Amino acid sequence: MAHDNAPAVGHEKVERNIGLMVVLILIVVAFGGLAEIVPLFFLKDTTEPVAGLKPLTALQLEGRDIYIREGCYTCHSQMVRPFRAETERYGHYSVAGEFVYDHPFQWGSKRTGPDLARVGGRYSDDWHRTHLINPRDVVPESNMPGFPWLDTGKLDGELTGKKMQTLRLVGVPYTDADIQGAKAAVQGKTEIEALIAYLQNLGTVISNKR
Ligand code: HEC
Repeated sequence: MAHDNAPAVGHEKVERNIGLMVVLILIVVAFGGLAEIVPLFFLKDTTEPVAGLKPLTALQLEGRDIYIREGCYTCHSQMVRPFRAETERYGHYSVAGEFVYDHPFQWGSKRTGPDLARVGGRYSDDWHRTHLINPRDVVPESNMPGFPWLDTGKLDGELTGKKMQTLRLVGVPYTDADIQGAKAAVQGKTEIEALIAYLQNLGTVISNKR
């Protein structure tokens, strides 16, 4: 420890000069910031869509919105973790490139029911329809609620094109033709048809083999 009137040296110089200390602290903190923030500017390059990934069709997109509206995500996650127990049960673990067109993504963390990230193609459309209307008709011990109103609810497609336009703003590659054809693609379809179209597409871009 230097005596009070001795000239400050080394670290003591920094401790006695608050301005200098602020500058040096900022430099130290900036290193942490650089390491965490700079890579974010290159996300576009690091998170490439996996080969063959397509944006949701108009009908699947409406199904996605029904999935959110009905709160399916409160019981179902959509992310297979890279652990043996998960991949044995659900299939290939989820990878970032599968979700680049998802706004918002539906990863979730609550699993009252099974993960749905790879449910596409696992059951027939008929199975899903029966199951969604009354789960106990196909899985007697199920405690999933039924969603019978989806079978009669009809889509008018008024907003589908606008939704796709908005998604295009955040980088989902919809074409003008996709957007113009959106209303015709969903008009008159039932909500359950849209939801099933969405479910049957989940996770299918990566091989579903278990
Ligand atoms: C209260 C919790 C809960 C909610 C909400 C819920 N589920 Fe389920 N879900 C379950 C449970 C539990 C199972 C397992 C039993 C069964 O198959 O019915 C299940 C099973 C499933 C399965 C079969 C998965 C598999 O791999 O066998 C699908 C598909 C499914 N749910 C879709 C949905 C959809 C779509 C919604 C929203 C419309 C929804 N669930 C809402 C609890 C829930």
